[in-house]
Amino acid sequence: MIIPTFLKWAGGKKRLIKDIERSLPKKIDRYFEPFLGAGAIFFYIKQKYNPKFCVISDINKDLIDTFKAVIDNPKELIKFLKYFKKNNSKEFYYRVRDKFNKGKFKQIQKSAAFIYLNKTCYNGLYRVNSKGGFNVPYGKYKNPEIFNEKTIMFASRLLKNVRIKCQNYEKIKDYIRKNDFVYLDPCYDPLKKTSFANYTPKRFCDVDNEKLSLFVAELKRRNSKVLLSNNITKNVKRLYPKNQFNIIKVWCSRSINCIGEKRGKIPELLIKNY
Ligand SMILES: C[S@@+](CC[C@H](N)C(=O)[O-])C[C@H]1O[C@@H](n2cnc3c(N)ncnc32)[C@H](O)[C@@H]1O
Repeated sequence: MIIPTFLKWAGGKKRLIKDIERSLPKKIDRYFEPFLGAGAIFFYIKQKYNPKFCVISDINKDLIDTFKAVIDNPKELIKFLKYFKKNNSKEFYYRVRDKFNKGKFKQIQKSAAFIYLNKTCYNGLYRVNSKGGFNVPYGKYKNPEIFNEKTIMFASRLLKNVRIKCQNYEKIKDYIRKNDFVYLDPCYDPLKKTSFANYTPKRFCDVDNEKLSLFVAELKRRNSKVLLSNNITKNVKRLYPKNQFNIIKVWCSRSINCIGEKRGKIPELLIKNY
């Protein structure tokens, strides 16, 4: 199956699809993914289960605007991406980054710039400074792919009729009812204090993981099916005890390095209530 992710995203689940696949319910009629990132699991579930109703969301506005551009105007987006690709160089990158941060691009062009920066920046990181400006340096890739026309057109087709929102994860609660399937892939509980978690200006930290567990409890109460990915930490084990959840250990290779965590296979957890 082709998974048409058009962004590199920290914590991206493309490489874990085989393991996640084994933990999915038999049937998915209504699907919710409120920590979307590059959307690998959404693209898989849409093709495998074709749910009647999907709500996907993320708190990162530039990310969601880019998904919307892929849905609404993929051809125009590709036109701008061709321009960015043709001009790619270190100097050009910093000019684009500056213009991006100063809000000088119009919408579709801004989304093309977002994809261009994502694919040419150091390690595909998304990191912002205290003012919310994207501040990742140029990545020095020899021949970065930047985009693939077919991938974007395919992603656009799969995203048709899907509700996509920029919002805090808790907002999906309004929709959730019995048998709905929710996949939660939050920024992980850090293995060390320095672990990478700067997806948006507001840091997503331990305290939020406490809140997230209350949210999971509410979803459980509504008899929905919840699958959650997270690191193996004391905190996570405490929040999701074995007598209340099915816990599966999987090995994940992380391509976007976390400070203090080496590239290579790292065990993590799939936690589910069904
Ligand atoms: C681990 S990444 C998800 C990766 C995704 N599963 C993939 O395959 O690319 C976590 C995502 O959660 C988003 N996020 C962080 N805090 C959030 C919040 N409070 N509400 C919604 N999304 C949030 C980040 O912007 C980031 O895209």
